[in-house]
Amino acid sequence: MTATEHLDTAARPQPVKLWFCPNDELDPGLAATLAEHWLDEPERETAERFLFERDRRQYLVAHVLVRRVLALATGVPEADAVIRRSPRGRPFLLAPAEGVPRGGRELDFSLSHTQGHNLVGVVRRHRIGVDVERLDRENRGFDAIVETFAPPEREWVAQAVPGRARTRRVLRLWTLKEAYAKARGLGLELPFDSFSFQLAQDTGVLGFRAPEDDAGAGRRWRFVELEPAPGVLAAVAVLVDPGEPTLFEVHHGFPWGNRTPQLLALPEPAPARV
Ligand SMILES: CC(C)(COP(=O)(O)OP(=O)(O)OC[C@H]1O[C@@H](n2cnc3c(N)ncnc32)[C@H](O)[C@@H]1OP(=O)(O)O)[C@@H](O)C(=O)NCCC(=O)NCCS
Repeated sequence: MTATEHLDTAARPQPVKLWFCPNDELDPGLAATLAEHWLDEPERETAERFLFERDRRQYLVAHVLVRRVLALATGVPEADAVIRRSPRGRPFLLAPAEGVPRGGRELDFSLSHTQGHNLVGVVRRHRIGVDVERLDRENRGFDAIVETFAPPEREWVAQAVPGRARTRRVLRLWTLKEAYAKARGLGLELPFDSFSFQLAQDTGVLGFRAPEDDAGAGRRWRFVELEPAPGVLAAVAVLVDPGEPTLFEVHHGFPWGNRTPQLLALPEPAPARV
Protein backbone atom coordinates (compact mmCIF):
# COMPACT_ATOMS: atom_id res chain seq x y z
CA MET A 1 0.00 0.00 0.00
CA THR A 2 1.39 3.43 -0.90
CA ALA A 3 1.46 6.35 1.53
CA THR A 4 -1.37 8.04 -0.41
CA GLU A 5 -3.55 4.95 -0.30
CA HIS A 6 -2.84 4.69 3.42
CA LEU A 7 -4.06 8.26 3.97
CA ASP A 8 -7.09 7.71 1.75
CA THR A 9 -8.18 4.65 3.72
CA ALA A 10 -7.71 6.53 6.98
CA ALA A 11 -9.67 9.60 5.81
CA ARG A 12 -12.59 7.93 4.03
CA PRO A 13 -15.63 7.23 6.25
CA GLN A 14 -15.62 3.50 6.87
CA PRO A 15 -18.72 1.52 7.75
CA VAL A 16 -19.18 0.42 11.32
CA LYS A 17 -18.29 -3.27 11.36
CA LEU A 18 -19.91 -5.92 13.50
CA TRP A 19 -18.76 -9.50 13.81
CA PHE A 20 -21.17 -11.99 15.29
CA CYS A 21 -19.61 -15.37 15.99
CA PRO A 22 -21.18 -18.23 17.95
CA ASN A 23 -18.66 -20.46 19.76
CA ASP A 24 -19.73 -23.36 17.50
CA GLU A 25 -18.13 -21.62 14.53
CA LEU A 26 -14.70 -22.44 15.89
CA ASP A 27 -13.69 -26.00 16.68
CA PRO A 28 -12.53 -26.16 20.35
CA GLY A 29 -9.12 -27.62 19.42
CA LEU A 30 -8.54 -24.92 16.83
CA ALA A 31 -9.63 -22.19 19.24
CA ALA A 32 -7.09 -23.50 21.77
CA THR A 33 -4.32 -23.60 19.15
CA LEU A 34 -5.05 -20.08 17.90
CA ALA A 35 -5.18 -18.87 21.50
CA GLU A 36 -1.79 -20.41 22.17
CA HIS A 37 -0.30 -18.45 19.28
CA TRP A 38 -2.26 -15.22 19.45
CA LEU A 39 -3.18 -14.41 23.05
CA ASP A 40 -0.81 -12.43 25.24
CA GLU A 41 0.33 -13.45 28.70
CA PRO A 42 -2.46 -11.76 30.71
CA GLU A 43 -5.11 -13.24 28.39
CA ARG A 44 -3.61 -16.72 28.72
CA GLU A 45 -3.49 -16.35 32.50
CA THR A 46 -7.12 -15.27 32.57
CA ALA A 47 -8.10 -18.27 30.44
CA GLU A 48 -6.29 -20.58 32.84
CA ARG A 49 -8.26 -19.30 35.82
CA PHE A 50 -11.70 -20.49 34.66
CA LEU A 51 -13.03 -23.41 36.67
CA PHE A 52 -15.35 -24.67 33.96
CA GLU A 53 -14.23 -25.70 30.49
CA ARG A 54 -17.38 -24.09 29.04
CA ASP A 55 -16.32 -20.69 30.40
CA ARG A 56 -12.75 -21.10 29.22
CA ARG A 57 -13.96 -21.94 25.73
CA GLN A 58 -16.18 -18.86 25.70
CA TYR A 59 -13.25 -16.67 26.71
CA LEU A 60 -10.86 -18.21 24.16
CA VAL A 61 -13.26 -17.85 21.23
CA ALA A 62 -14.11 -14.26 22.20
CA HIS A 63 -10.50 -13.17 22.48
CA VAL A 64 -9.24 -15.03 19.43
CA LEU A 65 -12.11 -13.35 17.56
CA VAL A 66 -11.11 -9.90 18.82
CA ARG A 67 -7.54 -10.37 17.67
CA ARG A 68 -8.60 -11.69 14.27
CA VAL A 69 -11.04 -8.80 13.72
CA LEU A 70 -8.43 -6.24 14.77
CA ALA A 71 -5.88 -7.83 12.45
CA LEU A 72 -8.29 -7.48 9.53
CA ALA A 73 -9.06 -3.88 10.44
CA THR A 74 -5.49 -2.72 11.03
CA GLY A 75 -3.12 -5.06 9.22
CA VAL A 76 -1.32 -5.76 12.53
CA PRO A 77 -0.88 -9.54 12.91
CA GLU A 78 -3.06 -11.14 15.57
CA ALA A 79 -0.22 -11.96 17.95
CA ASP A 80 1.35 -8.49 17.63
CA ALA A 81 -1.67 -6.41 18.62
CA VAL A 82 -1.04 -4.75 21.98
CA ILE A 83 -4.34 -4.67 23.88
CA ARG A 84 -4.52 -2.74 27.12
CA ARG A 85 -7.36 -1.88 29.49
CA SER A 86 -8.51 1.41 30.95
CA PRO A 87 -8.67 1.61 34.78
CA ARG A 88 -12.38 0.74 34.41
CA GLY A 89 -11.62 -2.34 32.33
CA ARG A 90 -12.36 -1.04 28.84
CA PRO A 91 -10.02 -2.76 26.38
CA PHE A 92 -8.30 -0.71 23.67
CA LEU A 93 -5.70 -1.24 21.00
CA LEU A 94 -2.42 0.48 21.69
CA ALA A 95 -1.62 1.84 18.25
CA PRO A 96 1.97 2.67 17.40
CA ALA A 97 2.66 6.44 17.03
CA GLU A 98 3.06 6.12 13.27
CA GLY A 99 -0.34 4.45 12.96
CA VAL A 100 -1.20 0.93 11.90
CA PRO A 101 -0.67 -0.43 8.37
CA ARG A 102 -4.38 -0.02 7.56
CA GLY A 103 -6.61 2.77 8.73
CA GLY A 104 -4.46 5.30 10.57
CA ARG A 105 -4.40 5.70 14.33
CA GLU A 106 -8.03 5.99 15.24
CA LEU A 107 -9.84 2.76 15.86
CA ASP A 108 -12.19 1.70 18.58
CA PHE A 109 -13.64 -1.70 19.37
CA SER A 110 -15.99 -3.32 21.84
CA LEU A 111 -16.55 -6.95 22.80
CA SER A 112 -19.50 -8.78 24.31
CA HIS A 113 -19.79 -12.48 24.99
CA THR A 114 -22.56 -14.50 26.51
CA GLN A 115 -23.38 -18.21 26.74
CA GLY A 116 -22.03 -19.34 23.39
CA HIS A 117 -22.26 -16.07 21.44
CA ASN A 118 -19.73 -13.35 20.76
CA LEU A 119 -20.04 -9.93 19.23
CA VAL A 120 -17.25 -7.52 18.32
CA GLY A 121 -17.85 -4.02 16.96
CA VAL A 122 -15.18 -1.90 15.27
CA VAL A 123 -15.35 1.73 14.23
CA ARG A 124 -12.72 3.98 12.68
CA ARG A 125 -13.41 7.15 14.57
CA HIS A 126 -15.16 7.90 17.83
CA ARG A 127 -16.63 5.32 20.10
CA ILE A 128 -18.50 2.04 19.92
CA GLY A 129 -20.12 -0.22 22.50
CA VAL A 130 -21.83 -3.55 21.88
CA ASP A 131 -23.81 -5.96 23.99
CA VAL A 132 -25.30 -9.38 23.31
CA GLU A 133 -27.72 -11.40 25.45
CA ARG A 134 -29.69 -14.57 25.01
CA LEU A 135 -33.44 -14.28 25.36
CA ASP A 136 -33.62 -17.64 27.10
CA ARG A 137 -31.20 -16.58 29.83
CA GLU A 138 -32.45 -17.41 33.28
CA ASN A 139 -34.51 -14.50 34.43
CA ARG A 140 -33.37 -14.61 38.03
CA GLY A 141 -32.42 -11.08 38.98
CA PHE A 142 -34.62 -9.46 36.34
CA ASP A 143 -36.51 -7.47 38.97
CA ALA A 144 -33.23 -6.03 40.22
CA ILE A 145 -32.26 -5.12 36.67
CA VAL A 146 -35.55 -3.34 36.03
CA GLU A 147 -35.11 -1.43 39.31
CA THR A 148 -32.03 0.21 37.77
CA PHE A 149 -34.02 1.60 34.80
CA ALA A 150 -35.47 5.10 34.50
CA PRO A 151 -39.16 5.44 35.53
CA PRO A 152 -40.61 5.66 31.95
CA GLU A 153 -38.63 2.54 31.02
CA ARG A 154 -39.92 0.69 34.10
CA GLU A 155 -43.46 1.64 33.12
CA TRP A 156 -42.94 0.41 29.56
CA VAL A 157 -41.64 -2.91 30.87
CA ALA A 158 -44.58 -3.26 33.28
CA GLN A 159 -47.06 -2.76 30.42
CA ALA A 160 -45.87 -6.00 28.75
CA VAL A 161 -47.45 -9.34 29.53
CA PRO A 162 -45.21 -11.24 32.01
CA GLY A 163 -43.18 -13.93 30.27
CA ARG A 164 -41.54 -13.69 26.87
CA ALA A 165 -42.90 -10.26 25.97
CA ARG A 166 -41.68 -8.71 29.20
CA THR A 167 -38.31 -10.49 29.08
CA ARG A 168 -37.81 -9.12 25.59
CA ARG A 169 -38.49 -5.56 26.70
CA VAL A 170 -36.12 -5.89 29.65
CA LEU A 171 -33.34 -7.29 27.51
CA ARG A 172 -33.82 -4.78 24.69
CA LEU A 173 -33.38 -1.96 27.19
CA TRP A 174 -30.58 -3.73 29.02
CA THR A 175 -28.49 -4.44 25.90
CA LEU A 176 -28.90 -0.83 24.71
CA LYS A 177 -27.92 0.54 28.10
CA GLU A 178 -24.92 -1.78 28.33
CA ALA A 179 -23.86 -0.88 24.77
CA TYR A 180 -24.02 2.84 25.57
CA ALA A 181 -22.24 2.43 28.93
CA LYS A 182 -19.54 0.32 27.26
CA ALA A 183 -19.07 2.86 24.49
CA ARG A 184 -18.51 5.47 27.21
CA GLY A 185 -16.08 3.07 28.92
CA LEU A 186 -18.01 3.35 32.16
CA GLY A 187 -19.66 -0.05 32.42
CA LEU A 188 -21.90 -0.30 35.44
CA GLU A 189 -20.44 2.84 37.01
CA LEU A 190 -22.93 4.82 34.97
CA PRO A 191 -26.28 4.90 36.82
CA PHE A 192 -28.72 3.22 34.45
CA ASP A 193 -31.55 5.55 35.45
CA SER A 194 -29.51 8.63 34.47
CA PHE A 195 -30.33 8.05 30.78
CA SER A 196 -33.23 6.45 29.01
CA PHE A 197 -34.55 5.00 25.79
CA GLN A 198 -37.94 5.05 24.18
CA LEU A 199 -38.29 1.96 22.01
CA ALA A 200 -40.49 1.03 19.08
CA GLN A 201 -42.86 -1.91 19.50
CA ASP A 202 -40.69 -4.44 17.63
CA THR A 203 -37.28 -2.93 17.09
CA GLY A 204 -35.63 0.47 16.89
CA VAL A 205 -34.93 3.42 19.15
CA LEU A 206 -37.47 6.26 18.97
CA GLY A 207 -35.95 8.46 21.64
CA PHE A 208 -32.81 8.75 23.71
CA ARG A 209 -32.23 10.98 26.73
CA ALA A 210 -28.48 11.17 27.39
CA PRO A 211 -27.08 11.46 30.91
CA GLU A 212 -26.29 15.03 31.96
CA ASP A 213 -22.56 14.65 31.47
CA ASP A 214 -23.10 13.67 27.84
CA ALA A 215 -26.04 15.91 26.96
CA GLY A 216 -24.05 17.74 24.27
CA ALA A 217 -23.37 14.53 22.38
CA GLY A 218 -26.93 13.19 22.67
CA ARG A 219 -27.79 13.71 19.00
CA ARG A 220 -24.59 12.12 17.75
CA TRP A 221 -25.35 8.69 19.14
CA ARG A 222 -26.73 6.08 16.79
CA PHE A 223 -28.27 2.91 18.17
CA VAL A 224 -28.79 -0.38 16.40
CA GLU A 225 -30.85 -3.32 17.64
CA LEU A 226 -30.22 -6.70 16.05
CA GLU A 227 -31.30 -10.30 16.41
CA PRO A 228 -28.22 -11.90 14.84
CA ALA A 229 -29.48 -15.43 15.53
CA PRO A 230 -32.84 -16.73 16.72
CA GLY A 231 -33.21 -15.98 20.42
CA VAL A 232 -30.18 -13.70 20.58
CA LEU A 233 -30.49 -9.95 21.08
CA ALA A 234 -27.72 -7.49 20.38
CA ALA A 235 -27.38 -3.74 20.65
CA VAL A 236 -24.80 -1.32 19.34
CA ALA A 237 -24.15 2.29 20.37
CA VAL A 238 -21.91 4.31 18.13
CA LEU A 239 -20.93 7.96 18.35
CA VAL A 240 -20.49 9.55 14.94
CA ASP A 241 -20.33 13.06 13.53
CA PRO A 242 -22.58 14.33 10.76
CA GLY A 243 -21.12 13.08 7.47
CA GLU A 244 -19.50 10.12 9.22
CA PRO A 245 -20.42 6.51 8.36
CA THR A 246 -24.04 5.91 7.51
CA LEU A 247 -23.63 2.19 6.91
CA PHE A 248 -22.81 -0.78 9.01
CA GLU A 249 -21.73 -4.26 8.05
CA VAL A 250 -22.81 -7.38 9.89
CA HIS A 251 -20.47 -10.33 9.48
CA HIS A 252 -21.50 -13.78 10.63
CA GLY A 253 -19.14 -16.55 11.70
CA PHE A 254 -15.42 -16.58 12.36
CA PRO A 255 -13.63 -14.19 9.98
CA TRP A 256 -11.58 -16.61 7.91
CA GLY A 257 -12.48 -15.83 4.33
CA ASN A 258 -14.43 -13.34 2.34
CA ARG A 259 -18.01 -14.11 3.28
CA THR A 260 -20.09 -11.19 2.10
CA PRO A 261 -21.45 -9.20 5.03
CA GLN A 262 -24.96 -7.81 5.33
CA LEU A 263 -24.79 -4.09 4.59
CA LEU A 264 -27.37 -2.00 6.42
CA ALA A 265 -28.08 1.68 6.95
CA LEU A 266 -27.24 3.14 10.33
CA PRO A 267 -30.43 4.50 11.92
CA GLU A 268 -30.81 8.27 12.24
CA PRO A 269 -30.00 9.73 15.67
CA ALA A 270 -32.94 9.34 18.05
CA PRO A 271 -34.56 12.58 19.26
CA ALA A 272 -34.22 13.46 22.94
CA ARG A 273 -37.84 12.93 23.86
CA VAL A 274 -37.89 10.34 26.63
C1 LIG B 1 -18.17 -5.49 32.38
C2 LIG B 1 -19.40 -4.80 31.82
C3 LIG B 1 -18.90 -3.60 31.10
C4 LIG B 1 -20.14 -5.68 30.81
O1 LIG B 1 -20.36 -6.91 31.32
P1 LIG B 1 -21.30 -8.03 30.72
O2 LIG B 1 -22.49 -7.47 30.03
O3 LIG B 1 -21.51 -9.01 31.77
O4 LIG B 1 -20.38 -8.76 29.69
P2 LIG B 1 -20.10 -8.54 28.15
O5 LIG B 1 -19.66 -9.83 27.64
O6 LIG B 1 -21.18 -7.84 27.42
O7 LIG B 1 -18.85 -7.55 28.19
C5 LIG B 1 -17.66 -7.95 28.76
C6 LIG B 1 -16.55 -7.29 27.98
O8 LIG B 1 -16.72 -5.86 28.03
C7 LIG B 1 -15.43 -5.26 28.01
N1 LIG B 1 -15.37 -4.33 29.13
C8 LIG B 1 -15.04 -4.52 30.42
N2 LIG B 1 -15.11 -3.37 31.11
C9 LIG B 1 -15.51 -2.42 30.24
C10 LIG B 1 -15.76 -1.03 30.35
N3 LIG B 1 -15.61 -0.36 31.48
N4 LIG B 1 -16.17 -0.37 29.24
C11 LIG B 1 -16.31 -1.01 28.06
N5 LIG B 1 -16.09 -2.34 27.89
C12 LIG B 1 -15.68 -3.03 28.97
C13 LIG B 1 -14.39 -6.39 28.10
O9 LIG B 1 -13.93 -6.67 26.79
C14 LIG B 1 -15.21 -7.55 28.62
O10 LIG B 1 -14.78 -8.80 28.18
P3 LIG B 1 -13.38 -9.42 28.64
O11 LIG B 1 -13.22 -9.12 30.09
O12 LIG B 1 -13.49 -10.89 28.35
O13 LIG B 1 -12.35 -8.74 27.80
C15 LIG B 1 -20.28 -4.31 32.93
O14 LIG B 1 -21.26 -3.49 32.38
C16 LIG B 1 -20.87 -5.35 33.81
O15 LIG B 1 -20.23 -5.88 34.71
N6 LIG B 1 -22.13 -5.66 33.65
C17 LIG B 1 -22.84 -6.60 34.51
C18 LIG B 1 -23.59 -7.51 33.70
C19 LIG B 1 -24.84 -8.01 34.36
O16 LIG B 1 -25.19 -7.76 35.50
N7 LIG B 1 -25.58 -8.69 33.53
C20 LIG B 1 -26.85 -9.18 33.82
C21 LIG B 1 -27.74 -8.54 32.79
S1 LIG B 1 -28.90 -9.29 31.93
